[in-house]
Amino acid sequence: MKPVILLTGKNGQVGGELLRLLPQVGEVAAFGHDQLDLSNPTDLCRTIREVRPQLIVNAAAYTAVDQAETDETTARAVNAEAPGLMAEEAKKIGAVLVHYSTDYVFDGAKKSPYHEADLANPINVYGKTKLAGEQAIRGSGVPHLIFRTAWVYATRGRNFLLGILRRATEQDELKIVCDQFGAPTGASDIAAATTKILNSVYRQSVDAPPIRTVGGTYHMTAAGETTWSDFAKAIIDEAAQSSQDVCWLAAATRGRPLITRRVIPITTAEYGSLTQRPKYSVLSNSRLAQTFGVALSDWRTQLQNSFAIVR
Ligand SMILES: NC(=O)c1ccc[n+]([C@@H]2O[C@H](COP(=O)([O-])OP(=O)(O)OC[C@H]3O[C@@H](n4cnc5c(N)ncnc54)[C@H](OP(=O)(O)O)[C@@H]3O)[C@@H](O)[C@H]2O)c1
Repeated sequence: MKPVILLTGKNGQVGGELLRLLPQVGEVAAFGHDQLDLSNPTDLCRTIREVRPQLIVNAAAYTAVDQAETDETTARAVNAEAPGLMAEEAKKIGAVLVHYSTDYVFDGAKKSPYHEADLANPINVYGKTKLAGEQAIRGSGVPHLIFRTAWVYATRGRNFLLGILRRATEQDELKIVCDQFGAPTGASDIAAATTKILNSVYRQSVDAPPIRTVGGTYHMTAAGETTWSDFAKAIIDEAAQSSQDVCWLAAATRGRPLITRRVIPITTAEYGSLTQRPKYSVLSNSRLAQTFGVALSDWRTQLQNSFAIVR
């Protein structure tokens, strides 16, 4: 028998990709923001009790990093309080909770990839609320998997990839930050890795007994590292070489030609954002590979693969 899965955030980048893949694992009851508002505890509890899932996959989050600085109450409700409540409800009905977190739980002072055991020390409100969500889940004692990912993009939604492509049709030079290091990770790769892991966990039984031994926090990002400015250059290069059949690209550029001739690297200070971001938030994925035999490909390969999608 396959598990019943409650998926939140079905219209988000990761949630949208999970919606396509999770039916391989179980019977999916999926909710978007308009159907289930995570900042409403009564609705959240009622929905979990009605669906009575064996597995909750929480792909919803308050991801507007700059906006979170001035709207901490909502960010905390969605990123910290709701996951805590999901964990408590999941525990009561014997369900497993799968949750996503972020590289922004780290302060970025390290110069080599962060491991799961490294001290979290978020430097912005988004990171603080996401860490509080992780802590609430761990503190509840519910069987769980927390996947920390980073710099997420997809071929739809609001993200750096689509933002650069739009700007590349409007400006002949783009000034992009060159002193923050991370690993741009495709939402489809995150969903595929999650599905593979859940398939292996649920292969034996709907009660997912192996979760008791493999549960915990894992880093799940693309391999390699880059900066926002080099990522922008790679996006423009790939777009310039890609086929006209890539429908999502035509939508992103609204059919207009790319006119950017140069990406100019600038510092974070020159960019002038009021929100602090970690300078270095590359994550080591070795624990994920050792435990589940799952390794996401290099960020550049993932980007190239995105331009191979013609749907
Ligand atoms: N995006 C990144 O760069 C990034 C980096 C590191 C980690 N992560 C983590 O990865 C996970 C997936 O992120 P993503 O990139 O897929 O984010 P996303 O594209 O912004 O999707 C998040 C979804 O959550 C929904 N949501 C927001 N507030 C909600 C609420 N109160 N109730 C119900 N749904 C709500 C959003 O709906 P609306 O749009 O309608 O509000 C959206 O569909 C999250 O846990 C995120 O923290 C993301």
